[in-house]
Amino acid sequence: MSRKIAVTSALPYANGPIHIGHLVEYLQTDIWVRFQKLCGNECLYFCADDTHGTPIMISAHANGITPEELIEKVHAEHQTDFDGFGIEFDNYYSTHSPENQYFSELIFNRLNEAGSIVKRNIEQTYCEKCNMFLPDRYVLGTCPRCKAEDQYGDSCDKCGGTYQPTELIEPLCSTCSTPPARRKSDHYFFKLNDYEKPVKDLIAAGYTQESAANKLDEWFKSGLKDWDITRDGPYFGFKIPGEENKFFYVWLDAPIGYMASMKNYCDANGLDFDTLWNGDEWELYHFIGKDIMYFHALFFPAMLIGAGFKPANKLFVHGFLTVDGQKMSKSKGTFVKASTYLKHLNPEALRYYYASKLTASLQDIDLSIEDFVNKINSDVVGKLANLASRSGPMLTKKLDSKLGQLDEQGKELLGKLVAAKNEIIKDFESLNYSSAVRTITALADQANRYVELNEPWKTIKTDAEKTRTTLTAVINAVHILTIYLKPIMPKFAEKTEKFLGVENLQFSDVENVLENCQINKFERLFDRIEKEKVNAMIEESKEGQTPAVEPAGNFKPECTIDDFAKIDLRVAKIISAEAVEGADKLLHLQLDVGGAEKSVFAGIAKAYKPEELNGKIVICLANLKPRKMKFGVSEAMILCAGGEDKELFILSADDGAKPGQKVS
Ligand code: 2FM
Ligand code: ZN
Repeated sequence: MSRKIAVTSALPYANGPIHIGHLVEYLQTDIWVRFQKLCGNECLYFCADDTHGTPIMISAHANGITPEELIEKVHAEHQTDFDGFGIEFDNYYSTHSPENQYFSELIFNRLNEAGSIVKRNIEQTYCEKCNMFLPDRYVLGTCPRCKAEDQYGDSCDKCGGTYQPTELIEPLCSTCSTPPARRKSDHYFFKLNDYEKPVKDLIAAGYTQESAANKLDEWFKSGLKDWDITRDGPYFGFKIPGEENKFFYVWLDAPIGYMASMKNYCDANGLDFDTLWNGDEWELYHFIGKDIMYFHALFFPAMLIGAGFKPANKLFVHGFLTVDGQKMSKSKGTFVKASTYLKHLNPEALRYYYASKLTASLQDIDLSIEDFVNKINSDVVGKLANLASRSGPMLTKKLDSKLGQLDEQGKELLGKLVAAKNEIIKDFESLNYSSAVRTITALADQANRYVELNEPWKTIKTDAEKTRTTLTAVINAVHILTIYLKPIMPKFAEKTEKFLGVENLQFSDVENVLENCQINKFERLFDRIEKEKVNAMIEESKEGQTPAVEPAGNFKPECTIDDFAKIDLRVAKIISAEAVEGADKLLHLQLDVGGAEKSVFAGIAKAYKPEELNGKIVICLANLKPRKMKFGVSEAMILCAGGEDKELFILSADDGAKPGQKVS
């Protein structure tokens, strides 16, 4: 009997592009969804953009557009990226939607009625210059535990300690470097601990993989804490019912976005949301990365249970992507955007490569560039596509494109290929794609050996019918392997279907034999990957390659002539320049601004050596309010042009200009 399955992937933030790290999850999920559909199950795949929160608000502001405009633009970009990789959502929606607001309020109200929400007055960091409460990641300072400098307000990179932003030593607003004040405000908290038992039971019943459950166990042991679900305005999100300037924290409405996407789909397709989400007929699965387990294994199921909704059947948690064994890096060019990849390489190569690496574990997967090129060229081109290119052209040119009948040897080969079906199905179902890929390539090896043994390129000269029999077996091997590969490489499968003259192959077609029928003209199925193309992609992804000229319209909000008149630009002479220990981008400069000296920390160390700068005449912003930075106070700013790091040029004045002269 066929199953009914709803599936979600985590919702990407609407303020940045999709990159190859994100794609691990979307490809893992898409392969699973396609597999289910190919098994004859009804399977629906839901996702959406995660649109709320401070970073999106700030990013929109910095681009001089509204958050609504930003999320609309990014939504279109994300959809183009997903389409490019063949990621086929049944609905790709937005958390900034009426359905999401409805469910967020409904869940909040039901939790409130159940006594699971408490209101408390808490003290938070507030930037008086930016006029806003600062989210944890917008406060930088010294870790209260290990005293490591430059740490975020929620946790320390060095010692792994977690704390409140108010505990940071010498905190600074990360946007404007002003020491934040503290302000009190009423916040709503979700009493997570009230749900310890049902959530524990859920996990004990197999809600996550075992290794994920172990991590959750540690969290249970250290005690579940109440969760602050309020953010004070200004904030881009949904207002909390009955409040004027308080909003739901983005992480409250983000997972509810799964429900909104499903509801929106149901309404458009005459389906009943309650049957899909809450009924027993439908199974529900979430795919997520290990970094967001706390939200998906604790908060979200607890909220659902408290509000009378069914939690998912299972959470599939995956690890991160590393490239050549290292974290993706913008400077090394391994932080590759989906759109950049698509300019250079075939998306199905990445689908295949990720599949060849993915298991059901939480371990990180590594994209080794060398291995990627070798594997695609050897497996996909050399083994899988090769079977078709060894048989198709010969059948077309010499044998009227007509298949014959299988002989015993051919039946034996195909028997082995068919016999692997259940194992391959099991591997796809349990997310052990790497094992499925190993089995498929081993079967392709056997089929290629069969070709070598029967030497059709020789027999065609003497015995056309024997050759037809051989090639009939090879074409049938292509037919079976194409079905096995179809969840991973749908475009490859589509091309092969066209060549074989079959349509819409399913797993149930594996046992069908193609005999005494016509096939179509062969067309190349897959091109080799050239290393140069991979290099070009990496080069294009290197930071600093981004055009220094911003696209038209991406200016900051207008400033008036009066704003500009406040700025006092002066000629200055650099009288000393030295490196700053512990800050590889900063130089400490001493400026002579015509009688006055100013000490400046400038982020130009990647572009200039200190010894190049002594005596240089530069332009500086002389009346900048002194800013307390981690390494000292910066009393002015020197003007530069260009992008970041090496692509940066100080604006210098003619040697005849005198320090202190006004610049106008
Ligand atoms: O971590 C992230 O990228 C989040 N935008 C994921 C949200 S998943 C779900 F909860 F919406
Ligand atoms: Zn600030």
